[in-house]
Amino acid sequence: MGLPIGVLASGRGSNLEAILRAWEAGELPVELKMVISDKKEARALRIAAEHGVPAEFLDPKAFPDRVSYDLALAARLKAAGVELVVLAGYMRILSQAFLEQFPLQVINIHPALLPAFPGLGAQKQAWEYGVKITGCTVHFVDAGVDTGPIIAQAAVAVEDDDTPETLAERILEQEHRLLPEVIRWIAQGRVRVRGRRVYIQK
Ligand code: GRF
Repeated sequence: MGLPIGVLASGRGSNLEAILRAWEAGELPVELKMVISDKKEARALRIAAEHGVPAEFLDPKAFPDRVSYDLALAARLKAAGVELVVLAGYMRILSQAFLEQFPLQVINIHPALLPAFPGLGAQKQAWEYGVKITGCTVHFVDAGVDTGPIIAQAAVAVEDDDTPETLAERILEQEHRLLPEVIRWIAQGRVRVRGRRVYIQK
């Protein structure tokens, strides 16, 4: 047993795979309760099923608006007893109605050093801007786009011969290390939040 978590994912699912690897290696004191996707074809759903984790496609088109979709999502996660929601490539913005049900219980992985380059295509944004260092950020989710309190970051140097794609690959390696690590800290009860500042107990 451990902290009951749920993962929301819209696509490839490589961060979900990283979580599963760490979990199956016994490194995460969590119980992976379910994976939910807003995309029927998401590879993340197949990966979850292959690992014996309940996986569900929840169709946004079946709901009249964003809030009703989010409430249905929250109801499923609550019914499964989820206490930490991990966004691993989840492409929808969560409404306040959802977040109120999981206060400081939703985290996201973003492929840039926030607050630089929020939103979509962050790796390409950073490459085009010409920064020499970028990376990834795990943060608590608030109602803004990639604006919540920062839990952890990892830096990645931008090389002269990088393309947005090669840069994204190296950032992804760091994502796969950082996201399971933060989940472990939270599951161990070592994460404290004071305003925007997040403290990790040693
Ligand atoms: C990752 O780059 C993550 O930082 C961003 O979406 C992408 C998801 O990739 N939020 P994957 O589905 O985990 O492979």
